[in-house]
Amino acid sequence: MKQFISVTDAGNIDALTQAALAYKANPLKDKTLGSGKRMGCLFLNPSMRTRLSTQIAAQNLGMEAIVFNVSQEGWAFEFEDEAIMSGTTVEHVKDAAPILGKYFDILGIRTFPSLKNKEDDYSELFINQFIKYAGVPVVSLESSTLHPLQSLTDIITINECLPEKLNRKPKIVLTWAPHVKPLPQCVANSFSQWINHWGKADFVITHPEDYELDEKFTKGATITQNQEEALEGADFIYVKNWSTYTDYGRIYCNDPEWMLTSDKLENTNNAKVMHCLPVRRNVELSDEILDGPNSVVTQQASNRVWAAQAILSRILQSK
Ligand code: CP
Repeated sequence: MKQFISVTDAGNIDALTQAALAYKANPLKDKTLGSGKRMGCLFLNPSMRTRLSTQIAAQNLGMEAIVFNVSQEGWAFEFEDEAIMSGTTVEHVKDAAPILGKYFDILGIRTFPSLKNKEDDYSELFINQFIKYAGVPVVSLESSTLHPLQSLTDIITINECLPEKLNRKPKIVLTWAPHVKPLPQCVANSFSQWINHWGKADFVITHPEDYELDEKFTKGATITQNQEEALEGADFIYVKNWSTYTDYGRIYCNDPEWMLTSDKLENTNNAKVMHCLPVRRNVELSDEILDGPNSVVTQQASNRVWAAQAILSRILQSK
């Protein structure tokens, strides 16, 4: 594995899931694999889970992981080729990335979208510029359009929580939820891409009018604006807000009726409820669900370590 920015870099998802679960059972089984190697984790945006789980995963493999909070401590990067840098940006990625490639054996990058320029965001300009100029494997710690470490984690968690003796594909529902701010489409895009690629679920996406995601990620899913109908018989419900894709980066509907509450679980197959976190309580998801037996959000977030460890070990093995 030379990079990890999308499901297309993942290879066999079931094999990765098994590798991650083997690390969960025995975290230090490859504790010398990354000896003498260093990973740089660059955060252009905030993070708790991704930052800490990636550091722990790297350390479990014997690597040193160094975090650089670029947005707080670094120079402002310029990403556009041929830019005249007379504005607020100080250092071109073309100059910074090769240096980072000398300091580190693997680079992890978190770069959120602008939510202003759809073309730039959906071309993955920021992370692609790092890939182009760093000269070492790049791992997405969430990019403008995708969050692959989260999605691998989600499939690991679904595998762990599959109802016993299910003699059909699990029904997995991705439901839009209200939020106070316009959020990226990354987690929803990525979850859709991975579940479709995995191909082992009956996958339904439900959202209000105008919240259609990019078809290149959702193709293959059943899409409906009727949340009640979507949730019927669900085994898993993934709750997530995203801003509009077509009229890019906006909030149209913010109807609180879309929040997932306990009464909405009644017609499900005792569905497990998932969210990537952080979550706005009683806006996206009710306290009752988050604090109740159907929520698997803590298990899900704890699995971030094993997903990251499976990916880093694949990269180390192919270096
Ligand atoms: N789910 C997730 O990526 O969490 P953080 O933003 O805290 O890393």
